[in-house]
Amino acid sequence: MKFLVLNGVNLNMTGTREKGVYGAETLDEINADLKAFCRANGHEVDFYQSNLEGELCAQIQQSTGVYDGIVLNAGAFTHYSYAIRDAIAAVTTPVVEVHLSNVFAREAFRRTDVLTEVCRGEILGFGKLGYKLALESFWL
Ligand code: DQA
Repeated sequence: MKFLVLNGVNLNMTGTREKGVYGAETLDEINADLKAFCRANGHEVDFYQSNLEGELCAQIQQSTGVYDGIVLNAGAFTHYSYAIRDAIAAVTTPVVEVHLSNVFAREAFRRTDVLTEVCRGEILGFGKLGYKLALESFWL
């Protein structure tokens, strides 16, 4: 199977921003680990990060027939992007939502999530392990 790990706004700062919340590993380090994890399980994976909402929508739109699943951490877009929500609803590619932190244990605005309803499932609060669990959910 082939997967896309899609990270949204500010996730490129992982490893340097709020390390106590998001961890000390960079996104490149996390992605290298995910690549090895997919390879070891006989799967392919691509990575894409953008701080631009429209670019994330374009990746989701183009996923049909290319990817068997998307693992999506949309960052703060999670809490208000109807555009990303509609892009997920527009395709048949299953999307599993991931958050490094437990958004329910944080500020009230993070408890609003406009994406979950159109996702296959959601994993949050387990740091980078969440991406692995999300990937595994596609093949286990
Ligand atoms: C996040 C949680 C969001 O609330 C926040 O805006 C992020 C990262 C997470 O992975 O925990 O940028 O998606």
